[in-house]
Amino acid sequence: MPTPIATAVPVAHAAILGLGVYRPRRVVPNHDIVDAIDSSDEWIKTRSGIAARRWASEDETIVSMSVAAARDALAAADIDAAQIDTVILATSSLMVLGPSAGAVVATELGMHDTAAFDISAGCAGFCYALADAANLVRSGQARRVLVIGVERLTDLLDVHDRGTAFIFADGAGAVVVGPAEQEGIGPVAWGSDGSKTSAIKQDKDFQQYFAEVAAAEAAGTTSERPYIRMNGTEVFRWAVTFLEKACRDALDRAGVAASDLDAFVPHQANLRIVDALVRVLELPDDVAVAHDIVESGNTSAASIPMAMEQLLRSGAAKPGDTALLLGFGAGLAYAGQVVALPPIVA
Ligand code: COA
Repeated sequence: MPTPIATAVPVAHAAILGLGVYRPRRVVPNHDIVDAIDSSDEWIKTRSGIAARRWASEDETIVSMSVAAARDALAAADIDAAQIDTVILATSSLMVLGPSAGAVVATELGMHDTAAFDISAGCAGFCYALADAANLVRSGQARRVLVIGVERLTDLLDVHDRGTAFIFADGAGAVVVGPAEQEGIGPVAWGSDGSKTSAIKQDKDFQQYFAEVAAAEAAGTTSERPYIRMNGTEVFRWAVTFLEKACRDALDRAGVAASDLDAFVPHQANLRIVDALVRVLELPDDVAVAHDIVESGNTSAASIPMAMEQLLRSGAAKPGDTALLLGFGAGLAYAGQVVALPPIVA
């Protein structure tokens, strides 16, 4: 007879208790980047909706932006860092393989002996991390989880690449997930398709790059460093055909109809994708739709918390409103869930 092993004591419900963001200081309008890609403000606005984005300066690192966003999330939740027992950080632009940024962020926030780790799920990273956090809380394995989505995509950006230079940007968003009397985070609908890796990816791995550097040195030539590359048309087609089902699955699993929603916060990839999803889901006109991409660009794992904050800050949505979140991108991975929107700091 095996020795019985106790399980953690579950709680019934989890919710997002507070939200904070960090937007880099430097605003980069379209006219600052168009010359390098032979483009125009009008082309970028028409094709993507983006008017400006934030690019991080040297001191605005993955860790410092995360810490700033986390401090506001803790304040909004009225919770001390010491009350957090798990940190999950989602990013695809950390330029070191270890240690995890989550562990460093936890220590910078004054936490001790806190479970902390990073996850990589491209632009779906925040929603993946949110699902993990909700499950940890409901299972009783964690009491309060800090979830962070953060990117410094400019570290991977080829500013001469017409397909990516105008899209990607930097920033951070964080939420505190904890127990609640009523459910605040619905079941996740998620998936991935590794056969579509070429749609968005780092164009070469570091082993390949080092081999190229060695060969170039021997030949007296130069080699090009790795960059993020995207087949925009392929991503666009996938987004507007496949993601309707992901949204409907997330709604069905939460038992919520599209007409019950107060807000829709899809990943801020491209305004035309957002508009297409609103159309196919037949969202009523009074559903507030996040359009943070216009001023923030595509911040990958940070985009959903940043877009939630923008909706709340503008007054278009309010804490407690029912919102559908949908993250999607490299992987090609997606994750969506229905949530009750959290408070932000005044
Ligand atoms: N500026 C100006 N013109 C550009 C350009 C740029 N940055 N990039 C491409 N073009 C030109 C092309 O040369 C082409 O010209 P042609 O018609 O004379 O041959 C034309 O614009 C259309 O190019 P195409 O690549 O087909 O553009 P598109 O309509 O597919 O738009 C994207 C490009 C990137 C805006 C679009 O594919 C997209 O948004 N995809 C989704 C990307 C996304 O959301 N990624 C994030 C996922 S996390």
